Amino acid sequence: MHQRFITLVFIVLCVAACSSTPKGVMPTNAEPAVEQVAGDAVRGEELFKNGRSDAPACSTCHQTQSGTGVVVLGPNLNGIADRAGERIEGLEAVAYIHQSIVHPSEFLVQGYRNLMYSRYGEQLSPQDVADLVAYLLTL
Ligand code: HEC
Repeated sequence: MHQRFITLVFIVLCVAACSSTPKGVMPTNAEPAVEQVAGDAVRGEELFKNGRSDAPACSTCHQTQSGTGVVVLGPNLNGIADRAGERIEGLEAVAYIHQSIVHPSEFLVQGYRNLMYSRYGEQLSPQDVADLVAYLLTL
């Protein structure tokens, strides 16, 4: 009788411990590191120009050719590949562009307001973002 009670307690404890462990190690809000996915610039350009049903096209607010004279909400991204690495000290071009897409309010380009569409981080996959970064690096 005593023996069975101990066995039962042991089983209960084991089940409790086993079922709670996975929750404890589940990553919360994990974002894959920037360089884990290889980007495809052609796909990125497509997404930039046309967007997708759930995500507005970047081209709604950004020009990519210099000197078009058209007034848009966002900064002209012509030459962004050269500027990106100098925007935030210690942040390389790829990481800066990645952050600009996923967390646009974290750094505001001088002269611009916090008007960038803010939900790309939820709506675009890591592959989508990597593709966009690869495309912007060609500009
Ligand atoms: C609703 C308008 C809007 C849309 C849509 C938009 N942006 Fe922006 N974007 C802005 C504005 C405004 C800024 C400047 C303020 C800031 O830095 O967040 C900006 C800043 C940026 C910057 C930083 C530029 C620099 O010179 O440092 C990058 C890179 C960028 N956007 C990329 C994108 C990409 C890629 C997309 C599409 C996935 C996109 N944006 C969609 C408005 C927009």
